[in-house]
Amino acid sequence: MAKLKTKWVCQNCGYETAKYIGRCPDCGSWGTLTEEIEVKQTTQKPTVVIDDTPVCLINEIEIKESIKFSTGFEELDRVLGSGLVQGSLVLLAGDPGIGKSTLILQTAGNICKKGKKLLYVCAEESGSQVKLRAQRLNVNSDNLYVYSQTNLESVIAQIDNIKPEILVIDSIQSIYTSNITSSSGSVSQIRECTNSLMDIAKNKNITVIIIGHVTKDGNIAGPKVLEHMVDTVIYFEGDKYKSQRLLRSIKNRFGSTNEIGVFNMAENGLEEVTNPSELFMKERTDNAAPGSVIIATNEGTRALLVEVQALVGATSYPSPRRVSTGTEFNRLLQIIAVLEKRIGLNLSKHDVYVNVTGGIEIDEPAADLGIALAIATCYRDVIVDPNCVIIGEISLSGEIRNVSNLEKRIYEAQKLGFKKAIVPKQNKKLQGNFDIQIIEVARLMEAISACVSKK
Ligand code: TYD
Ligand code: MG
Repeated sequence: MAKLKTKWVCQNCGYETAKYIGRCPDCGSWGTLTEEIEVKQTTQKPTVVIDDTPVCLINEIEIKESIKFSTGFEELDRVLGSGLVQGSLVLLAGDPGIGKSTLILQTAGNICKKGKKLLYVCAEESGSQVKLRAQRLNVNSDNLYVYSQTNLESVIAQIDNIKPEILVIDSIQSIYTSNITSSSGSVSQIRECTNSLMDIAKNKNITVIIIGHVTKDGNIAGPKVLEHMVDTVIYFEGDKYKSQRLLRSIKNRFGSTNEIGVFNMAENGLEEVTNPSELFMKERTDNAAPGSVIIATNEGTRALLVEVQALVGATSYPSPRRVSTGTEFNRLLQIIAVLEKRIGLNLSKHDVYVNVTGGIEIDEPAADLGIALAIATCYRDVIVDPNCVIIGEISLSGEIRNVSNLEKRIYEAQKLGFKKAIVPKQNKKLQGNFDIQIIEVARLMEAISACVSKK
């Protein structure tokens, strides 16, 4: 006999409780608990199954080499950790309309061209809609199966039928399992479906890619509640009104999470941007504006040049505003404190806005010196030499600290035609020959005098 059980589930974080409460005690959001009905099969007492897998010594365990294959996109491969791992479960999350289906359909085309069989479950679109998109993207293969279905059990039946090597679910919010009665998109449904898909990935050795929409209003459960269940989580981000898209991995059981991938959304789908620094530099409108500085940041295995802009002006608020876009807020407060104390800038009556162009998020301290120079030059209305790249971390005492992968950052600047690099003196001797002038600085004041000139 099936027994109905009611529970209240927070659609934001997945917290469960037996009775309704207005505010989720776990994540603190209001009005996000919805009632979900669970059907439990209670005819038999569950039998206790004892697994006889032996316990081994760590030295006796044999490492099974995980088989990786390319997605046909270098940018995506790098973010995944040199390709997709066979039998893994990948979650691709992003805002609706950002290009997730486009990316996966193009990837599906690339993979199928290499002879692998792929089943694309389009739970949001009809087969003909997918076909139209595939034509536009020039995706065509005899190995690509499209199935417009929202029921997970029907999908599982087709997996046994078609025996694909890769399964794509577009999207997890539109699919449902008949095992539980809550509506598709609820926390219980997406958890249950993801659990079944994990079983498929591990037991049938099928690579499963799940697409998930990120929602801010909390009405539909977002990928956040799935992150701990899957092997890899990648986010597809970007401004919907601009063509540039960034892929970022935030969890990866098979590789690093520092990598980013850059794409450009064009007429016929997504194009890889293999040299993103060049793209970011193209966005630079005025070469010599006060408050504009080029920094070299390190993203995973490669260096990226990006522009940091600052705007400093007299405040008309009771307490001055500090706004950071693309950099860590507390880091900005710390840099402002160092500028006030160590070089005597009086910013207590000034608003400070800092912006990193290109939609990049910088969380490494090597950007400190660039941010400090952007603020200082805007305040004093002077300019940083536009041919100069700024690299260095700032300590609270105003010293310039060493950074990792300095050579890689300098090479990137040299490649893009910069003439000068301001680097920390603390770094050990540089390896390699550079055609670019390298100025080593030990303190903040030295850095300012090395690259700043009057407008
Ligand atoms: P889509 O992949 O449907 O987004 P998601 O699956 O994340 O919801 O992409 C939708 C947007 O991408 C749509 O606004 C149009 C744009 N687009 C292009 O600019 N060029 C293209 O070739 C395609 C297929 C889409
Ligand atoms: Mg889509």
